[in-house]
Amino acid sequence: KKILIINGPNLNLLGKREPAIYGSLTFTEFFETVKERYKTVELSYFQSNVEGEIIDKMHEVGFSFDGIVLNAAAYTHTSVAIGDAVKAIETPVVEVHISNTFSREEFRHQSFISPNAKGVILGFGLQSYELAITSFL
Ligand code: DQA
Repeated sequence: KKILIINGPNLNLLGKREPAIYGSLTFTEFFETVKERYKTVELSYFQSNVEGEIIDKMHEVGFSFDGIVLNAAAYTHTSVAIGDAVKAIETPVVEVHISNTFSREEFRHQSFISPNAKGVILGFGLQSYELAITSFL
């Protein structure tokens, strides 16, 4: 199976960024462990701080891959365009968040991704990504 993890803005700083909320592991460290654990899966990773680049990547893989694990970060709460992209492609998208966005500020309770996602996993730290991957297996 071909699965792509997409991380949105500021998630390149994982490990350094607000560790009390997002943990102290870098995404690269975590990704290496996960690749090791799911050797049979063709796992790839893309991160961008640019909305259009995230959309371009979804178009690129969205008609051939088996699954996309998407943490659109703050764009989750603002981007009609990424929400439309989830709807436009054929590959199912599982929305993930590291933190429990519902226990945080009100503006994080709204998601443009959820209505068209296959499912949503949030609040389990980096394990949210792993749960999303296993949902495609
Ligand atoms: C996040 C939650 C978002 O509200 C926030 O803007 C992020 C990360 C999470 O993974 O918990 O950047 O998507």
